[in-house]
Amino acid sequence: MKKISLIAAMSENRVIGRHNQLPWNMPADWQNFRRITAGKPFVMGRNSYLAPDKLLSTSRSIILSHSEIPDLCENCIRAENWETALSLLQHEPEIFILGGQSIFEQAMSFANYIYLTVVHGIFPGDAWFPEIDKLEWKLIKDRFYHRDSRNPYDYSFQEYIRAG
Ligand SMILES: NC(=O)c1ccc[n+]([C@@H]2O[C@H](COP(=O)([O-])OP(=O)(O)OC[C@H]3O[C@@H](n4cnc5c(N)ncnc54)[C@H](OP(=O)(O)O)[C@@H]3O)[C@@H](O)[C@H]2O)c1
Repeated sequence: MKKISLIAAMSENRVIGRHNQLPWNMPADWQNFRRITAGKPFVMGRNSYLAPDKLLSTSRSIILSHSEIPDLCENCIRAENWETALSLLQHEPEIFILGGQSIFEQAMSFANYIYLTVVHGIFPGDAWFPEIDKLEWKLIKDRFYHRDSRNPYDYSFQEYIRAG
């Protein structure tokens, strides 16, 4: 595949999850996510797959786990390692890596694009997005939006491309 994109939403203190769920409800972020990822395959870790607010691809979702996962949903495939996951998707023009923390930490080294929603608040949590090394990544889009009647926090949609 040509484009390997991380897609995530994090708070200003880099929180992405608490008790295996998103700590906020931001419909604008769901809409943006669906628009960007429509029809594209996903890769996620087992914990994210088991989350109550998980997001599945209308194409294929690859779930990384070292063990069997009972009752896998339709269009979901388990992969035991990255090599298998990426070879299953090698002919796709773009894949989306959905998290969670452990998956983002591993994929940061080989992904070449990041879609990041920053929720402008400080949240308690137990899962975080890794630091983005400014020497390795270039911020190419950064759009700020004010909170509104449906979205309780200000937010920004950012995009980074691997530099060089
Ligand atoms: N805000 C966001 O954008 C966003 C997005 C997604 C998730 N989240 C949050 O992130 C949190 C979950 O993150 P997490 O780090 O706990 O879990 P995770 O990354 O979703 O899943 C971890 C599991 O994935 C499997 N795994 C990881 N690396 C693997 C590899 N190289 N090969 C095979 N299997 C591998 C392992 O499963 P086994 O133990 O079965 O081997 C591991 O226990 C939740 O709070 C969730 O809400 C937030």
